[in-house]
This record gives sequence, C-alpha cells and structure tokens, in this order.
Amino acid sequence: MSGCLRLCTAASCRSRGALALLETSTLPVKEVGCLGPCSEGPLAVMDGTLLSLQQAASEPLEPSLAAALARSRAISSEDSFLKLQRRLVLARCGVVDPGCINDALAQGAYQQLQAVLAADNPSAVIETVRRSGLRGRGGAGYPTGLKWATVAAMPGEHKVVVCNADEGDPGAFMDRTLMEGDPHTLLEGMAIAAFAVGAQQGYIYVRAEYPLAIERLRTAIAAAEVRGWLGKGIRGSRFNVAIELRVGAGAYVCGEETALIHSIEGRRGVPRPRPPYPAEHGVFGLPTLINNVETFGNIPALLRLGVEAYGAGTKVFSLTGHVRRSGVLEVPMGTPLRTIVETMGGGAPPGRSIKAVQTGGPSGGCVPASALDTPVDYDSLKALGTIMGSGGMVVLDDTTNMVDLAAFFIAFSREESCGKCIPCRSGTVQLEMLLRKLLERRGSAADLSQLESLCHTVADASLCGLGQSAPKPVLSTLRHFRSDYLELLRPAEVGR
Ligand SMILES: Cc1cc2nc3c(=O)[nH]c(=O)nc-3n(C[C@H](O)[C@H](O)[C@H](O)COP(=O)(O)O)c2cc1C
Repeated sequence: MSGCLRLCTAASCRSRGALALLETSTLPVKEVGCLGPCSEGPLAVMDGTLLSLQQAASEPLEPSLAAALARSRAISSEDSFLKLQRRLVLARCGVVDPGCINDALAQGAYQQLQAVLAADNPSAVIETVRRSGLRGRGGAGYPTGLKWATVAAMPGEHKVVVCNADEGDPGAFMDRTLMEGDPHTLLEGMAIAAFAVGAQQGYIYVRAEYPLAIERLRTAIAAAEVRGWLGKGIRGSRFNVAIELRVGAGAYVCGEETALIHSIEGRRGVPRPRPPYPAEHGVFGLPTLINNVETFGNIPALLRLGVEAYGAGTKVFSLTGHVRRSGVLEVPMGTPLRTIVETMGGGAPPGRSIKAVQTGGPSGGCVPASALDTPVDYDSLKALGTIMGSGGMVVLDDTTNMVDLAAFFIAFSREESCGKCIPCRSGTVQLEMLLRKLLERRGSAADLSQLESLCHTVADASLCGLGQSAPKPVLSTLRHFRSDYLELLRPAEVGR
C-alpha cells in the first residue's frame, strides 16, 4: 500500500468533511472504510502512516487535501489504539476500496469460499465453527456452530440465511463499519454459511438509517454476482446462493429475530412467541439461519486461521461517550475493560473521572469504574448484571446521573415497544413515570420499591427480548449506583 494515499470516506469521516477533501484532491486517492479512531477524523493513510487531518475548530477550513496533508498529525503505529487491536473481522476495513471487488479479491476476499467449495464438505465447515466456540455477536451469544448444525439438520430442500444488520442500540456502530468498509467479508461469510446449512437464498436486513452501508452492499452484491461469487453454479460448483437486501424502516424491535422475519416477509414487524424457532420455521416458513453481521464476518478469518490460531477470537466495539478517543476497535476476546476504555480510549475527558461504562444498549447495563478490570467476555459481564451485547460501549463520567441514564433507556424501550404485549407496552410507560417522579424529587421509598418490583414483572412477563431486557438498565443502575436513586428521594424520605 505504500505510496498510495487512502482516505476514509465512511460515515464518521464524511461527517467531518472527508468528501470535500476528496473533491479537491489532485493526487490519486483510494477511498476506504473506517480506520478506527473516528474522533480524530478525517483520517487518511499515506506511506503506511495513519494521519489525522483534523483541524482545530478555530482554524479556517483547509482549502485542499494537499494542504490538509501538509499540516496533518501522524498517529504512530505504536499508539495503543492501534497496537492493542487484533483485526480479524476488520482486517481489510480501511485497507480495501469497498466499492471495488478487484481490490477485495487482490486482498484475499472469497478465498475461503473457494476452499470450502473445493472441499465440498458442509459438515466439516460446521464442525470447525462448532470447535472454535464462536458465539453470536448480535447480543445473545448463542453458540454459532450449534445454530448452524440445527438448520443443517432440518429436512427440506429450501432453506434461508439471514444477516441481521438492524443495529439499533444507541451508541452501536460496529456492524455499520464492516458493511461500509468491507462488504465482501460479510457476503463471503454468508455464502459459506449458506453452503454449510444447505440454503440457496440469503437476505441482509439492514436499517434504512444506514444509506452508505446500503449503497456499498448493493454495489458489492452486484459485483460478486458478475464475478461469479454469488448466484448460480458458484465458481463452477453445484452451489447456488442469491443474496438480497431488505431495508428496514427504523424499528428497533425488528432486530428481534421473529419480528425481523415478519418484516422480511412484508408483514408488520412484531415478534411472536418462540418456539417454533427460526431454525424450524423462519422466513416464509422455511428453516432459517439468522446471524449478526459480525458473526458472519468472523467466518472467513476463522477458516483461514484454523481453530487453534483463531483462539478465543475477537470482539469489535464502538467506543463512545465521555471518552477522549472514540471510534471502532477490534480486540482479543477477554481484553480487560480498562485496557479498552483507559489505555486505548484515553480515559475520561480532562478533569473528569470515569463513573461507569454502559454495555449492551437498552438490553444491557453498567459496569462501575471499580470493576474496570473485568475481562470483556460474555460470562464476566453477565456476572456483573450486564451483557456484552452487540458491542456498543458508552463511557460515562462523574457528571452522569445514573437515574437519568436509566430513564433515557426506558424511554427508548417505551418508544420502540411494538405494543403487542401488555407487560412491555404498559410496563415501560409505568417504569418511565416512576423514574421521572424520582428525577423530579417527588418520589418516595415506596415508589423506589415499586420500581424494582415492576422491573421484575416486565422482565418475566414480556413476550420478546425487548420487554424482557428493557428493565436491565434500571436494575443494573439500582445494583451499582443505588445512592444516585436514594439522593433523589423526597427530602423527607432521605435517610429513612
Ligand atoms: C429488541 C431486540 C433487538 C435486537 N437487535 C438486534 C440487532 O440489531 N442486530 C443483531 O444482530 N441482533 C439483534 N438482536 C438479537 C437477534 O434477535 C438475534 O439473537 C441475533 O441476530 C442472532 O444472531 P447471532 O447469533 O449471530 O448473534 C435483537 C434482539 C432483540 C430482542
């Protein structure tokens, strides 16, 4: 890559003027996806060095890319944000031009699909995925190999593979990063999954709020069809798979798999009870494999490395909130939270300290600063009363009132509740009312205990994951930051 100038034109750098710089360029520039530390964007790479083209707010806008490069700031490869990453899923993100299949092919895209087709042994692929211990990256952490084996074992000639690219958690933008930066890795992972489970049809369910990801996926699918990596008789084999996009209309609940299936079918996106599970009765009643973007994105790297070298794998996080450096990073599974937030992210803004880190969005909870040494993996976070979720990580400093935070998430869940079941539809309204009452210092100790017991009712009685996990931000903040609640009780009640 040396000698070539790469400029990130993904969503975050776009919002910081990357396209205007591109227009003024007299140099040959390769457009690439996310390079990582978004808060320092627009970002470029020249002769292998990452450059921040950012200007101070007080400076006049650079007239050209050449001028911006002349006063750019180099970010050393020894910088912990770069050095501590292990980029398996995002290996080609920021390297390849996402709009050019030839570039992706030159960097190894579709080689694992080629190898899988040559070996013609679907169960061996599933066995590799099973042995790797890969768990779904969409939030629930279900073992991927087991899910693939279940769909593969279902009778019938027609099966479906679905990629869940709804990514609705506030503060989460990992999936968008892969789709914008390296769509062919996702398509390759999906095609391999389709081959392994015996599916001929694939859908990517992507949210309408991601226009650039949609555009780049469309281009990538069309190019892969032309080059024979998607479609009929792929690379001379008997394997056929078509992948289509389905654009969601911006409903968070459509990330829930049964609601997502309804939406793909053209019906209203509301959940239904499970069983039957999608593996048995999915899109148009067919056995359906649903995985998250990052889950599929792991497959080519896993097959390339093999189970041993893949090890525990990685997790992609979007780091945001009250932190000096925000952006997207991919770290070895089990990296301590402190390493991500303090070493890589630079910790809280000047003069402030970290109070907590919110993980798992509206279905998750908070890790208090005292537990920052917790390794980030599914079970350690669960033990703290939160979840790893899909990878949104929001840092909160000491100015944050945790009751306010809980109210924000409950308001989100109330707004996004589809209304089909009463515990979620009414429960989230009642929870929000109690939280507002506390925030307005009108709440009593009895309100606080009602809040807590209602949380359990909503979690136990709701139909789908939205309602079942909506109370988690309240329960988690009650567990770790009860004093924030007690301080808000009506003056007469404090100290009772
Ligand atoms: C309300 C709600 C929203 C969800 N949103 C998403 C989402 O945006 N993306 C995603 O991959 N999974 C989401 N999930 C989880 C999916 O239902 C499903 O578990 C996941 O797509 C399975 O893929 P995985 O095994 O690869 O994680 C959501 C679940 C619920 C209950």
